[in-house]
Amino acid sequence: MEVNNAVALVTGANRGVGQTYVAALLERGVRKVYAAARAVENLSETIALDPARIVPVQLDVTSQKQIAAAATAASDVTLLINNAGSLTFGGALDIDEHGLGRDMAVNNDGLREVTRAFAPVIEANGGGAVVNMLTLLSFVSAPGFSGYNASKAAAWSMSMSLRAYLRPKGIAVVNAFPAGIDTDMLAGVDAPKDAPSDVVRDVLDGVVAGHEDIYPASAAEVFSAWRADQKAVEEMFATMM
Ligand SMILES: NC(=O)c1ccc[n+]([C@@H]2O[C@H](COP(=O)([O-])OP(=O)(O)OC[C@H]3O[C@@H](n4cnc5c(N)ncnc54)[C@H](OP(=O)(O)O)[C@@H]3O)[C@@H](O)[C@H]2O)c1
Repeated sequence: MEVNNAVALVTGANRGVGQTYVAALLERGVRKVYAAARAVENLSETIALDPARIVPVQLDVTSQKQIAAAATAASDVTLLINNAGSLTFGGALDIDEHGLGRDMAVNNDGLREVTRAFAPVIEANGGGAVVNMLTLLSFVSAPGFSGYNASKAAAWSMSMSLRAYLRPKGIAVVNAFPAGIDTDMLAGVDAPKDAPSDVVRDVLDGVVAGHEDIYPASAAEVFSAWRADQKAVEEMFATMM
């Protein structure tokens, strides 16, 4: 789809990759961006990017009430970016169960419920796209991120189901599978990280080109290695405790 002239909604737009999406979408000529965050008071830096084209929206993606209200308020959306994400560190045998539940609630259930609410909106506006921020960890696990891996694997599976239902309605479901990105999420992790702007650029280029699965920035190389030898990449990631 063309991104210029779209009306976008970005979840988790107050910082990190979400804020970078808002900036990049504005640069590419969108008519409007709904910047969604669970605490609207944290959106001031994002809104300052272009107060005339940014509309703040309160949206905790685990709240059915807020999801419904957002879909009613943002009734002109054609491009939904499911960006909000949660990462609880911990291995499969010791992860805190509340953290595990939160990762699943935000990364899988939230993605599904926000998409469910906005699909009729996008369809009524003539079609468009839903972009899901997944991760290479959707298909290869880093043991120290066990809950996150599982939630993003579930979201990957769910998004393929959504794709089959939404394609006939003129809605492309686009999955992005980045490698590590330099944001708060990985602040304490010593690993190679891509710049958020490089990741967002590649995802939006992929959306415009009509790609359904996108491996932005350094993820392309890891994905090629995984396709060539899945076990070798699994063993390499297994060292990430
Ligand atoms: N960073 C990476 O290495 C990496 C790699 C691959 C994929 N990703 C994915 O890219 C996306 C953006 O990540 P990031 O690096 O920008 O993470 P981040 O810096 O930790 O920011 C996470 C964002 O999600 C929001 N969020 C968390 N729970 C929410 C909820 N219940 N409702 C609404 N918003 C919620 C946060 O809001 P608050 O400010 O209110 O907490 C924040 O805006 C995520 O889906 C992540 O899984 C990240």
